[in-house]
Amino acid sequence: MPELINLTIDGRAVKVPPQTLVIDAAKTVGIEIPAFCYYEGLSLAAACRMCLVEVEKMPKMMTACTLPVSEGMVVRTDTEQVKQSRKYMLEFLLTNHPLDCPVCDKGGECELQDMVFRYGAGESRYTDEKVHTPEKQFSPVVFFDAPRCILCFRCVRVCTEGLGVGALGVVNRGVVSEIAPNVGDHLECDECGACIDICPVGALTSGIYRYQTRPWEMTHTGTICTHCGDGCKTTLGTRNDRIIRGNNRDRSGINGEFLCIKGRYGFDFYDHPERLQSPLLRVDGKLQEVSWGKALEAVAQKFTQTLADGGSFGVIGSNHTTNEENFYLQKFARQVLKTNHIDHHRTGDVVTLLDALSGKTSKLATVGDLYERKAILVLGSDLALEHPMLSYQVRANYRHHQARIYVVTPQAVREDKYAAATVRGRDYESLRDKLKAEPELVILFDDTYKGDDLRKLVDFAESLAIPVKFICLLDYANSRGAVDMGLTPELLPGYEPSGQAGMHVGEMAGAPLNALWVVGANPLKGGLERKAGFLVVQDMFLTETALQADVVLPAASAYEKSGTVTNTSGEVQRLTRAINTMGAKPDLEIMGFIAREMGAAAALGPWAPETVFAEIRRTVRGYDLSMPVLATGGAAQTVPVNGRIAVDPGVELRPDLVHSDHNGLFTSGTLGRYSKVLNSVVENRLSR
Ligand code: SF4
Ligand code: FES
Repeated sequence: MPELINLTIDGRAVKVPPQTLVIDAAKTVGIEIPAFCYYEGLSLAAACRMCLVEVEKMPKMMTACTLPVSEGMVVRTDTEQVKQSRKYMLEFLLTNHPLDCPVCDKGGECELQDMVFRYGAGESRYTDEKVHTPEKQFSPVVFFDAPRCILCFRCVRVCTEGLGVGALGVVNRGVVSEIAPNVGDHLECDECGACIDICPVGALTSGIYRYQTRPWEMTHTGTICTHCGDGCKTTLGTRNDRIIRGNNRDRSGINGEFLCIKGRYGFDFYDHPERLQSPLLRVDGKLQEVSWGKALEAVAQKFTQTLADGGSFGVIGSNHTTNEENFYLQKFARQVLKTNHIDHHRTGDVVTLLDALSGKTSKLATVGDLYERKAILVLGSDLALEHPMLSYQVRANYRHHQARIYVVTPQAVREDKYAAATVRGRDYESLRDKLKAEPELVILFDDTYKGDDLRKLVDFAESLAIPVKFICLLDYANSRGAVDMGLTPELLPGYEPSGQAGMHVGEMAGAPLNALWVVGANPLKGGLERKAGFLVVQDMFLTETALQADVVLPAASAYEKSGTVTNTSGEVQRLTRAINTMGAKPDLEIMGFIAREMGAAAALGPWAPETVFAEIRRTVRGYDLSMPVLATGGAAQTVPVNGRIAVDPGVELRPDLVHSDHNGLFTSGTLGRYSKVLNSVVENRLSR
């Protein structure tokens, strides 16, 4: 711990580490120094002069956002001179600012509005006509109103530094200075909307949220993004059962305030016109709308009859559904339907990783490790596109802590720009000497590292003789939870060997099973024909599989239910229901109703998410997690399974079944098709 620096701010003694900025030192004793351009985590700009303070023995006022503390420093933030300067700065910022607060989207959350109330003058001395320029649309999600801009450059910096994109800059000088996009009149970027959220005023506004509502008219619900496996927390602003916006401005999740386009705007699939809102039953060869009662009865009757006849069942689960749903589904399959034909689409070889690491401790990295560890090795993945939040953390680690980043990928990636070394292809062994010299390392690898290749990678890491942790990159919001909860024939929940053979997704899709139950998956996409005698599908949309079903049950999305999900680094977080969509039910409830109709509910236990999670905590290895952490919206990493995942004779681990869909920033499996926003941005078309 370095020695602390002593200084005084407004007569109060302050002790902070060397290099702390005065603006941050003041916060430690509850003194707020107003600021616009200063933004934690971004480079310093000193553009707005809002943070001017008096410092003893300095001839002029100083910007607290760029001034590091020094021993014996005496700072004053509440003198007449400081108060005057704040008034003048605000008056200056309002010179051309249109006072259109009643119609501006930022109303109620505008930092300029707040500062003027708090520190500004009651009246303006300007009488001249304001300079006006018309509003511009930079993309379907980004609008820009130049006269409202206070040129703090937060947007330019977050895009260049935070995202590593650099899609915004400044053109012209003086009163006509303006933020401008990177390609002529439009943006070609990640369309993540970070620039909009970070804008302290209403200069950058969202094409999705603008003119819809006011912040105080919405309910704000913290939940988890349903798209990729990174597990960003998102706060959904809702009104009248409609999601109006998503953001994470309170930085409460593992992602800080980061969200990619999918997390911030890609919630819109939920009210797509093709969303299923009524159960469908095949009558005379055609799917017809029926009541929930009739549909559930049809499923229960057929399942009961098939059981009585000794018929065969297959169950295909999802990497989107919650841990509770996955756990309940495998229990239903194994205990009630008496089948071990249960599987899901595996997107990374987490099973081999855990097996290869058995007996070793502290080997699984968290998202936090990507921001803190000294060196990171990225294998295979185009991280910025496929795992945007993890890429953001790695970039922040490089910027803030000078972490060394090593990249071994088949193609050029965004991480190349700041990598300590880059290898095109798969030859990570060529980095041995460099990696050996590192004090510690986190290795992220994609689905191309599996089976024996992955065991070799673990041996290689071991041979470096430094602490190494791993993240097995997985595609969807609960890919990890699907494996953890035993949605495979080989393994029960908690990676206990099942000791029984069973069919995999592809085999089930092509087998003449008597009944096939598909929950949140689309195994018949790509023109496959149904072979099962009876097909039940739970989904949000009429997918290729649902179109061939006998019964289709409309399922709730992740934003319409509660439960838990486990991200790619094994961190469990809570989903909280933000809205209800008429006609759809959470998958867990649907399964519970089928169990009840079959008279099997008692055997499976209550189907409330909290009760099922309590059972998971009691019975699934690694899931005895801290409830206070989860209940307060935190992420709790599962305790790694630390025993060998035994391979029984006749039952083998199947790395050959692992394949990632490699969704980029603008696609999200089947869900992506139904998001208007994802399909509207030009980058989506450019990336095809
Ligand atoms: Fe959602 Fe992944 Fe984007 Fe985070 S990085 S907002 S989890 S899609
Ligand atoms: Fe210090 Fe803007 S916050 S100059």
